[in-house]
Amino acid sequence: MAHRLCFFEWLLLCHLLLSPVVVCSNKHGNPANELVDIINNNRSSQKLPKLNDSPGLGCMALQYVELCKGNCTSGNAVNCKPPEDEFTEVFAPNCGVELPTFGTITGHIVGCQSKYLEPSEAFSRVLVKDKNTLSLLRNKSHNEVGVGLVGFHKSFFWCVLFSDGTINSTFVLEDRGEGIKQKKGCFSGSAYPCSDGEKIAASYDTILILGFLFVYLYNICTTIY
Ligand SMILES: *[C@@H]1O[C@H](CO)[C@@H](O)[C@H](O)[C@H]1NC(C)=O
Ligand SMILES: *[C@@H]1O[C@H](CO)[C@@H](O)[C@H](O)[C@H]1NC(C)=O
Ligand SMILES: *[C@@H]1O[C@H](CO)[C@@H](O)[C@H](O)[C@H]1NC(C)=O
Ligand SMILES: *[C@@H]1O[C@H](CO)[C@@H](O)[C@H](O)[C@H]1NC(C)=O
Repeated sequence: MAHRLCFFEWLLLCHLLLSPVVVCSNKHGNPANELVDIINNNRSSQKLPKLNDSPGLGCMALQYVELCKGNCTSGNAVNCKPPEDEFTEVFAPNCGVELPTFGTITGHIVGCQSKYLEPSEAFSRVLVKDKNTLSLLRNKSHNEVGVGLVGFHKSFFWCVLFSDGTINSTFVLEDRGEGIKQKKGCFSGSAYPCSDGEKIAASYDTILILGFLFVYLYNICTTIY
């Protein structure tokens, strides 16, 4: 009986350990890239050209939400207005964007939600839920797009930046396009794996609980045998 119980509990633990992994791989790795695809699909339904996925813009979008996380209002708005020069003086250097290639930002959309939403839901329920943002998305001036995402205290912050820059020659990243490694969150077009922006808020508690469970089961099962 004790033997069977132990086996069952180990099975449960394995299941708990493995399920987040399965969930993560379902997200195709990077939700920011998925949002870029959703934006491009929405534009192509209006016969608008595909926007180039710019890692330089994506990285700065992540910088934007990093600065503004913690300012989520009810109604999914981000109450945060970084000064204009923050882009050239802080965001670009933090990302390793080569300053002479800094182009014009032709629009931005930011939003937040008190829980993680799949990119398609974040698109329709948080970011592009009114006429103004939809017309901004469908503006003909844009050539490039970048998306950043970060989780903070169980809230999730998204930022989309648009630019009319020349593809592949604006917002160029140093170090042969790798830029500087971002430690938190995700951004589109990144050369680095997404550091699971959507799981950050939840994973700390989970790891702690699983850790205790593991020690507990280990003690019980080694005592029995
Ligand atoms: C975030 O909100 C606080 C309180 O309203 C405000 O003082 C602060 O300036 C905001 N942060 C930014 C970066 O705008
Ligand atoms: C498109 O964006 C450009 C640059 O931000 C702006 O000047 C223009 O008014 C926008 N066009 C429309 C139709 O909103
Ligand atoms: C584009 O986005 C808008 C706003 O979320 C939505 O109403 C519309 O159905 C979308 N169009 C397509 C083709 O996905
Ligand atoms: C930009 O660079 C990418 C990757 O090197 C390449 O696939 C793409 O064709 C380039 N686009 C243009 C317009 O030069």
